[in-house]
Amino acid sequence: MKKILISALLIAAASAAPAFAAGDAAAGKALYGTCAACHGASAEGNKAMNAPKLAGQGEWYVVRQLGNFKGGIRGSSPNDTFGKTMAPMAMMLADDAAMANVAAYIASLPVSHPAATVQGDAAAGKTGYAMCSACHGADGKGNPAMNAPTLAGQSDFYLVTQLKNFKSGARGAHAKDSYGMQMASMAKMLADDAAINNVVAYINTLK
Ligand code: HEC
Ligand code: HEC
Repeated sequence: MKKILISALLIAAASAAPAFAAGDAAAGKALYGTCAACHGASAEGNKAMNAPKLAGQGEWYVVRQLGNFKGGIRGSSPNDTFGKTMAPMAMMLADDAAMANVAAYIASLPVSHPAATVQGDAAAGKTGYAMCSACHGADGKGNPAMNAPTLAGQSDFYLVTQLKNFKSGARGAHAKDSYGMQMASMAKMLADDAAINNVVAYINTLK
């Protein structure tokens, strides 16, 4: 059953590869000033602000999420506490060009591996990760053709929140969030909080 569902999603995802035009990093630098307060000067993330690392994330994916926040597709659920913090920030970006430019600037920043903050059983998580690799890659580097973002080296606290949000419907339940819906059905296969922590502990081992 899981196999059939994943195959169906793979086909649906592969037929919808993202159209994407790169922005102007120099213009994006000025826009990034506001973002640094929460995400850090090098977009390294800040757990105290619940703000994830953005450096090293796919530029196409950053653009899409900004569009989703701005359009109310993400961060509009009453249960999406942290998404509600981010949504008004995206609304300050005037248009598609501004979103592309700030994403291009983020893509120009150096990438470091954040310290692990999540405790889990990485060996058990490795088994759980098998189903994730079809879209996110065995190395967790993501796959634009599958619309799946980079997970390796991203803020672990944030990965945990997102898996819980996808599972509860706080993210990925909006009618226009077709990619989020694909991920939501995957998160529902993680049985409990321990399974979430384990898979994230395993992702922490991917360099
Ligand atoms: C007030 C703090 C704050 C500011 C300022 C802020 N953000 Fe965020 N941002 C957040 C939080 C918190 C999240 C995590 C939301 C969640 O957990 O769903 C987030 C999430 C994101 C994401 C989603 C990352 C992903 O992997 O899906 C992107 C992209 C993003 N922010 C970009 C920006 C940009 C660009 C700016 C500046 C224009 C900015 N943020 C300003 C708090 C902030
Ligand atoms: C069928 C393909 C598919 C599978 C399998 C899959 N994902 Fe995803 N995942 C996605 C897509 C597509 C997105 C992007 C959703 C969006 O654009 O909002 C995503 C997003 C995510 C995010 C949010 C990252 C961020 O920066 O916001 C996390 C965390 C995640 N996936 C973890 C996992 C884990 C862990 C597994 C295995 C249990 C898994 N995924 C399995 C397709 C998949």
